[in-house]
Amino acid sequence: MKQDMSSLSRDILSTIVENKEVAPDIYLMTLEAKPISTVAKPGQFAMIKVGDSHCDDPLLRRPFSIHNISGDTVQFLYKVLGRGTQILSAAKPGMEISCLAPLGNGFNILSNKSHCLVGGGMGIAPLLFLAKYIRKNQPGSSVHVLLGARTQKELIAIEDFASQNLDGLEIATDDGTAGHYGLVTELLEKQAWSTGEVNVYSCGPEPMMKAVAHLCQKRKWHCQVSLEALMACGMGACLGCAVSQKGLGAKKYLHVCSDGPVFSAGEIW
Ligand SMILES: Cc1cc2nc3c(=O)[nH]c(=O)nc-3n(C[C@H](O)[C@H](O)[C@H](O)COP(=O)(O)OP(=O)(O)OC[C@H]3O[C@@H](n4cnc5c(N)ncnc54)[C@H](O)[C@@H]3O)c2cc1C
Ligand code: FES
Repeated sequence: MKQDMSSLSRDILSTIVENKEVAPDIYLMTLEAKPISTVAKPGQFAMIKVGDSHCDDPLLRRPFSIHNISGDTVQFLYKVLGRGTQILSAAKPGMEISCLAPLGNGFNILSNKSHCLVGGGMGIAPLLFLAKYIRKNQPGSSVHVLLGARTQKELIAIEDFASQNLDGLEIATDDGTAGHYGLVTELLEKQAWSTGEVNVYSCGPEPMMKAVAHLCQKRKWHCQVSLEALMACGMGACLGCAVSQKGLGAKKYLHVCSDGPVFSAGEIW
């Protein structure tokens, strides 16, 4: 699924419009980032310099999916995990932040009638932009979104998805505090699309995406998965984000930043 987007990627100094906590330890950052907003595609990501744009600490940028684009603004939805995201969460409106984007291939939006987006945890981050994009560019197709989280408090951006005029929006929580009591993959299992009729796009924890991929294989549904890996450069130079290609093991590696982050599920599992 490699696409050469390198000619469109730029290091853009963007102004922070807003950076607010939307759920415990989860932030939504809005940037004024015009060149990115005009060329980015769903599933692409940015390497963000989380510290002061004039200093080298932390040295490595951090990768974040493009969550939403509206006019000239680009949004990122991120969870505070370690030092980099902690620093990012303290950034204030008006500050400038350096963003290398758009990177990666993005989702391959096929022209079948039905699309089903399956997100788990922070894996919902790239799916809002995808849902909006399909709605706009394929008005005759149906779009279903299935979202899973551990508990209700971690369900984020539900209103944003609900306002996309979707054909279906279903929710699952591991503890039953909202929607279906169980896994988001159980919601996918209930769907009755016939062979080849649906495109499934998935992002979330690896075991969830693996389960989605195996279910789609059984039902003969097209399936794409957006992978995560530790990244140093984000553009194919350090070879730090390698994953082995299915069936070839150590013989053939794919790089999540430059060959992905989106892969046909059959390439990986
Ligand atoms: C293409 C891509 C898109 C991403 N999009 C988003 C997004 O939209 N929202 C979001 O919240 N996160 C996203 N991530 C993950 C995000 O990049 C990491 O959470 C972030 O870099 C952590 O930085 P840190 O300095 O806070 O944590 P660190 O101190 O670097 O690490 C803290 C902990 O998080 C783990 N970790 C760090 N980076 C990753 C990673 N890439 N994948 C899995 N575990 C990691 C570490 O192993 C460690 O356990 C994405 C990752 C990739 C590769
Ligand atoms: S992060 Fe450097 S090659 Fe992918």
